[in-house]
Amino acid sequence: MPSIEVRKAEHISIAINEDVDFKGKTTGFEHVELIHRATTSLNLEEIELGVELFGKKLQAPIIIGAMTGGFKGAEKINGELAKLAAELGLGLGVGSQRAALENPIYARTFSVVREVGGEEIFVMGNIGVSQLKKYGLEGAKRAVEMIDADALAVHFNPVHEAVQIDGTPNFEGWETVLKDITAGLGVPVIAKEIGFGFSKEDVIVLESLGVGGLEVDGAGGTSWAAIEYYRALKNGNMLKASIAKSFWDWGVPTAVSLAETVYNTRLPVIAGGGIRSGLDAAKALALGAVAVAVARPVLKALLKDGYEAAKNLLKRYIEELRVAMFSVNASNLRELRERPLVITGWVREWLELRGIDTSTWARRCC
Ligand SMILES: Cc1cc2nc3c(=O)[nH]c(=O)nc-3n(C[C@H](O)[C@H](O)[C@H](O)COP(=O)(O)O)c2cc1C
Repeated sequence: MPSIEVRKAEHISIAINEDVDFKGKTTGFEHVELIHRATTSLNLEEIELGVELFGKKLQAPIIIGAMTGGFKGAEKINGELAKLAAELGLGLGVGSQRAALENPIYARTFSVVREVGGEEIFVMGNIGVSQLKKYGLEGAKRAVEMIDADALAVHFNPVHEAVQIDGTPNFEGWETVLKDITAGLGVPVIAKEIGFGFSKEDVIVLESLGVGGLEVDGAGGTSWAAIEYYRALKNGNMLKASIAKSFWDWGVPTAVSLAETVYNTRLPVIAGGGIRSGLDAAKALALGAVAVAVARPVLKALLKDGYEAAKNLLKRYIEELRVAMFSVNASNLRELRERPLVITGWVREWLELRGIDTSTWARRCC
């Protein structure tokens, strides 16, 4: 069975070299429309994008999503991602810290983010829910200390574990451990999906266990079944490859998952999974997200085209968000959330079949 380091390196290589986007499903943001305001009365340059997230100030409500750590090349990647976050005033998530909890020689591939990014940046640690029983509160504390994390993401990835060649698809008994961790960790625990989304049933369970926020990474961006399909092929496991392929487009689309989540909790919600422009970000923030997370596009730009390309990509997101806010007459993120929007097409149908009155968003008005 491939070791954790080999697996982590394979994930990066497949994520940047193969087409692992959802194919038959979108995020649904094409059915979320902000209402254009020809009579905007704002100065584009004075629009305020800043937000406070779990005690840290971000210059724009964007987090570079959790991706890596735990193999040789990860120190350089995480160092550059931290530099990007610091230069642009954005947040940053690290990938699963399991490798470093098992073998301290990998701690540096994570702690580099604080060293390079400095104490100002918002940094989120990461651990998988299926590993919680093994590491418990003590392991979660070590993960936080390793990077002086402002919050700890606990990722929920049942489909990913089930379709991968070396997964651990046993999710029994995590609830008790999560409850211990949320009560004793000292920093907020953020329940995070990895691209298949949360449903309202999940949100109710997670809130009852004391999480401090959710990152709803939904379907429509990077498909983890697709990544595992390519890994299975590479490792000659045709059975796993065909199972993974069947789940390529599984999951709750990001716009739907986000709407279900914000409709059912007052906890801070980060939207990720297929956020591919500042306009997607604007729609997510208008629906009620406090920030968005962007993962694979940043990694791909960094590793394929270099640091400046990744920086320009993120600058594009920031400027597009500003233009969208200008065009709906929202001078800050609070006003953006108050602006009316309409939800149409299959996203509306999905939400209404799930008992959500989409007109509550449509009616909101300045
Ligand atoms: C190469 C790679 C590695 C990832 N590793 C992790 C991880 O260790 N922990 C985690 O919670 N999410 C991980 N993710 C998932 C992302 O944080 C994100 O949820 C997902 O890619 C969807 O966002 P996107 O469509 O912007 O890529 C990883 C994503 C990529 C591309």
